[in-house]
Amino acid sequence: MTSNAEFLERAKRVLAGAHTNLPGGGFAPRFIVRGEGAHLWDADGKEYIDFALSAGPLIFGHSNPEFLQALKNQLDTLWSLNSTIYQQSALEVELAEKFVQHVPCAEKVHFNPTASETVQLVIRLTRAYTSRRYFIRFEGHYHGWFDNVLGGIINEEATGRPFPKESKQALATEGRDVAALEQSFLLPWNDIEILEEALKKYGEEVAMIIMEPILCNAGCCPPRPGYLEKVRQLCTKYGVVLCFDEVITGFRVALNSAQGLFGVTPDIATFGKAMAGGLPLAAFAGQRDMMDLLLEKRVVSGGTFGRYPLGLAGALVSIKILEKDDGAFYKKIDSIQKRLMDGLKEISKRRGIPMFIQGTRGVFITRFIDIGKEVAYSIRDFEGVDTQKERRWAELMAEEGVILMFVGRFYISSAHNEADVDRTLECADRVMRRL
Ligand SMILES: Cc1ncc(COP(=O)(O)O)c(C=O)c1O
Repeated sequence: MTSNAEFLERAKRVLAGAHTNLPGGGFAPRFIVRGEGAHLWDADGKEYIDFALSAGPLIFGHSNPEFLQALKNQLDTLWSLNSTIYQQSALEVELAEKFVQHVPCAEKVHFNPTASETVQLVIRLTRAYTSRRYFIRFEGHYHGWFDNVLGGIINEEATGRPFPKESKQALATEGRDVAALEQSFLLPWNDIEILEEALKKYGEEVAMIIMEPILCNAGCCPPRPGYLEKVRQLCTKYGVVLCFDEVITGFRVALNSAQGLFGVTPDIATFGKAMAGGLPLAAFAGQRDMMDLLLEKRVVSGGTFGRYPLGLAGALVSIKILEKDDGAFYKKIDSIQKRLMDGLKEISKRRGIPMFIQGTRGVFITRFIDIGKEVAYSIRDFEGVDTQKERRWAELMAEEGVILMFVGRFYISSAHNEADVDRTLECADRVMRRL
């Protein structure tokens, strides 16, 4: 049997780099050879409880038998596993109808293999629709790895348009086109006055506002009460397209997604991750007249694998499972997540370790800081967080057999059970003693 150490040597020789979702760069010391349910096994045969779930998508866990059987049935009746579709498929129509049924903003839908690509097409589409040039995005929000949306920080000295500036603190990258950061304005999120101010000055130049409706990528921060409603009003007033990036929240927080949960309907929304149960597929859905620019070929979209049947079938099957038994999936997730969050809060309190925990359905974060209030509404609430301790927390938990995503993020799947939670809490108790 090949061990982790041997794989590490081989990886160093032939792999260009590790996945960017791994903390700290370099390669992880473990190489996964199998996944089943909520568990993973590495090349040394060590077992882990997996709360990273491939950075979110695996909402039914690994190799879920119900998902796999339904997928097989779906593909047997429609398409073989490895066919790709150049023409339109029945599968695509059926899936788009599910979106229209569940997602409030979905009048029409378009599919792509990845969400990074989807966001780029949305930028192009909204520019075409409005004949405007810029888009607004927010501090801490993540919309993929392309040049024009990746990181940057607010330029506090900016006197004109609030373009972001490159910073080591926020996903800086070499090789970025220097003009890419001048496509968007970067503002603090959850601050309606600053947004209104920017729109008063530059509203007529802004094609779109894009945001995660719950800031899952930086602290699982919820929107302030009334914030989304006010953003909606401002977008309507200034003729700006409102886009919710529901790549994490989509179908995870509810079948009608965050927009359904908050009762605020954007003009367009992006989806990915959980929607295909772990298979690669992304989508955006929006208003008919805007989406029809694609139909008319006034806006071009390409991509050989955009209609990849395995991904389409994965999404159709996932939505059908989520629809079952009056939301049984969501009830299960809620009770497991509550047990885990309550347990972690109890341990950190008992051990006197300042740990801030908050989340939304299916995902939460643990951060080593006392923010002195119940809810963090902004990434700035985490200033002064003990990042070294956070890194150690994730490393020691992995040593104990529990895998988290970076920045202490936990994703919950329907495969996690009470025994997994209890074992995780025992590990967390031992780790917190060592921190
Ligand atoms: C909110 C959000 N949008 C977009 C993306 C990009 O998705 P992908 O990695 O499929 O390109 C991500 C990925 O983490 C995300 O979290």
